[in-house]
Amino acid sequence: MSTTVNEDQIEQQVGELVDRFFMGGVAAIELLTVHLGNRLGLYDALAEHGPCTSTQLAAAAGIDERYAREWLEQQTTAELLDVDDPGHPADRRRYTLPPATAEVVQNEQSLAYLAPIGGFLVCVGPIFSQLQAAYRTGGGVPFADYGTEMRDMQGAFNRPAFSQLLAGEWLANGAPDVHARLQASPPARVLDVGCGYGWSTVALAKAYPIAQIVGVDVDEPSIDEARRHAKEAGVDHRVSFTVGHAADSTLGKDFDVAFVFEAVHDMGRPVEVLRQIREACRDGGTLIVMDENVAEEFGAIGNPVERFMYGASVLHCLPVGMAEQPSAGTGTVMRPSTMREYATKAGFSKFEILPIEHDFFRFYRLGE
Ligand SMILES: C[S@@+](CC[C@H](N)C(=O)[O-])C[C@H]1O[C@@H](n2cnc3c(N)ncnc32)[C@H](O)[C@@H]1O
Repeated sequence: MSTTVNEDQIEQQVGELVDRFFMGGVAAIELLTVHLGNRLGLYDALAEHGPCTSTQLAAAAGIDERYAREWLEQQTTAELLDVDDPGHPADRRRYTLPPATAEVVQNEQSLAYLAPIGGFLVCVGPIFSQLQAAYRTGGGVPFADYGTEMRDMQGAFNRPAFSQLLAGEWLANGAPDVHARLQASPPARVLDVGCGYGWSTVALAKAYPIAQIVGVDVDEPSIDEARRHAKEAGVDHRVSFTVGHAADSTLGKDFDVAFVFEAVHDMGRPVEVLRQIREACRDGGTLIVMDENVAEEFGAIGNPVERFMYGASVLHCLPVGMAEQPSAGTGTVMRPSTMREYATKAGFSKFEILPIEHDFFRFYRLGE
């Protein structure tokens, strides 16, 4: 009897897993079609031109009509686009980009913009054999090998939060004294380590009009983009960027405030980097670290954020950190206890978790 119950339970569990895997596959494939649509400018064309037939979309975006039609039909069945009348002949149907879809997949300034996840899936493809080799040897996969898709994805993912939340909400409410210092005279000297495409650096420069900001990143193509973004934003006279490994480079001196946004867990030598930052700050200077909002401890069942972070770790962040040897081998799921340990080893005597609520991020404040 108990065998029957067990078999029934297993059958039910298998059915649930089959549903979950199939729907996960559907979601992953649809994310890739969204990414394709963005890379080809198809959502932008729909947003600009309004309802389009496949011929009109193809002409507006400069793509082949047959492909335009397939993509439009696929996006419609995925409930991302609206069609005027599905009963019309294929070449006469007109497709529209609904406002909610635009918000999530097309509007790169929106806090709801999640299209970059598709770019993450794409960037893993070319390095997949390297990834397998790293798992066998204990080596790593350098950040640069994930290529432009990865850099673009990272930049796009955090950009809206930096431009809309970083100064006015996160710092203003979570660290009001830092917010005040950044506004005050003499101009605050600010360091942004692991700045990537510089969206945080630019956001800080725009929010604090007299602050002087230095962005540092070990990845040269990221710094090239960061310089371009600062110039386009008109803040390049107060922002400078340096290519360098933050554990080895001279970061400068007398910074009032330093930041590391979503980068400590990627570093092979986080303690050395934190120590360098501490030495680069003036007495009484502050370091704010933004990293992943994972659980305090490992648990058998993870919430979706924990699962997302572990997935990112398995495929990207851990191998990136392991590319530098010897490595701390942190991975995306850096728990507060690990961050505290790194801070202490780097010589910071003050460590606090800031009262800033965000689905993905936790904020640490380090000082002396
Ligand atoms: C996940 S990305 C975050 C980029 C950016 N802060 C953001 O939030 O979009 C991590 C960045 O840290 C940089 N990085 C990693 N280790 C570094 C090191 N030791 N020194 C300087 N930059 C480093 C990488 O090149 C990458 O641009």
